[in-house]
Amino acid sequence: MNLLSYLNKELAGKSDENLELISVICSVADSTVDIAMDTRVTGLKQIRGSANEINVQGEEVQMLDQIANKSLIDSLSKNSSCAGYASEEIDEPLIFNQSSRFMVVADPLDGSSNISVNMPIGTIFGIIRNTDYGVSSFNKSGRYYISAGYSLYGPSDIFVICVNNKVSEFTLDPKKKEYQLSRDDIKIPRTGSIYSINEGNFISWEDNIKKWVLNNKNPTGSSSKRKTLRYVGSLVADAHRTLINGGIFAYPPDKSQPEGKLRLMYEANPLALLFTSAGGNAVSIDKEILDIEPENFHQRTPLILGSKDDIDDFMNFTTSGRSSFKETPEISPIFKWNKVNIAKLRSRLGLSRSRFGKKVGVTRGTVLRWESGDVSPNLSNNKALDSIYLSTRKELLQNPLDT
Ligand code: AHG
Ligand code: MN
Ligand code: MN
Repeated sequence: MNLLSYLNKELAGKSDENLELISVICSVADSTVDIAMDTRVTGLKQIRGSANEINVQGEEVQMLDQIANKSLIDSLSKNSSCAGYASEEIDEPLIFNQSSRFMVVADPLDGSSNISVNMPIGTIFGIIRNTDYGVSSFNKSGRYYISAGYSLYGPSDIFVICVNNKVSEFTLDPKKKEYQLSRDDIKIPRTGSIYSINEGNFISWEDNIKKWVLNNKNPTGSSSKRKTLRYVGSLVADAHRTLINGGIFAYPPDKSQPEGKLRLMYEANPLALLFTSAGGNAVSIDKEILDIEPENFHQRTPLILGSKDDIDDFMNFTTSGRSSFKETPEISPIFKWNKVNIAKLRSRLGLSRSRFGKKVGVTRGTVLRWESGDVSPNLSNNKALDSIYLSTRKELLQNPLDT
């Protein structure tokens, strides 16, 4: 089964939103095929060195960073369902068409330090609904990501995608230049025998991180077993190995990077949605990655990804104990529905309270209490309000609701 047939099956409800989501995912996938072709011949096309520029991160840009970023911009700017694009390589997000349905965030080329030595590298991306018709749509926690994935340019070129909280892997058929399903509905093992961290930073970690690492090598508790260290230095490669084999990847804060090194919006969030959907978890140290409210597009975060039991073991060293993570990530409601925007939505639809209530699945009295501010909608009411809003968004495009 190829990627398009898989997406048509997984997103079968032929709603506009599903059709447009499929098209945006395919635009990203097409771009990663072009990037894969370039990664095969960097030494021949003289594109493996530095572009002699410093990006907004203060990091030296590689030529392949620029090529990958440009490929994604060219592909997504032509897609009428893509409203805008934010990436590691550009200071501010690009807005292509502010009334289109989705925004894309990306790390166009992850693992740049590995390009020149032919080690695995990748592309990481996330897809967010354009609820605010512009740049502020990006300022959402990972709970608002409707899809996420990565490509890994390695011995095989693979594309891993998460839709509807299901994670599957596709392998590029180089002849047909088409991704074919190679692993369906991936679930991460509950624990693994590998830990992955840059031990070169050991002296600058906090003591509890040092204790956790030492325990991996020389377990004291009877329950824990010794782990092996693997570290590629490309997040996508270390993450993919962890997803398939189980275990844990950690990039904790250190003295020189107190906020952590990895970027929240286009490295941590997409992987956090993927790992939690595959039955694992992703934390910063004491908080779930998906709950972090971003303050800026290039915000950094500590990132610990992996199997449930290994994350719990990590948390036992770094916080009061077990991570209180949700079994599968609840995709958050789009809006924080309140008395003002509920009343606005109802009046724009020209419905009485009882007919609006029927649409949402509540009584007239509940609608009245919402609009008077006495009570707020619960999670399932919020989702019902979201879907009413999304299905009527065309007529709301001209004058969007204040969220
Ligand atoms: P990028 O190439 O997109 O800047 O990302 C590099 C990141 C990530 O891929 C990897 O996990 C990490 O940098 C490695 O950092 P260290 O070299 O400090 O271990
Ligand atoms: Mn990266
Ligand atoms: Mn990068």
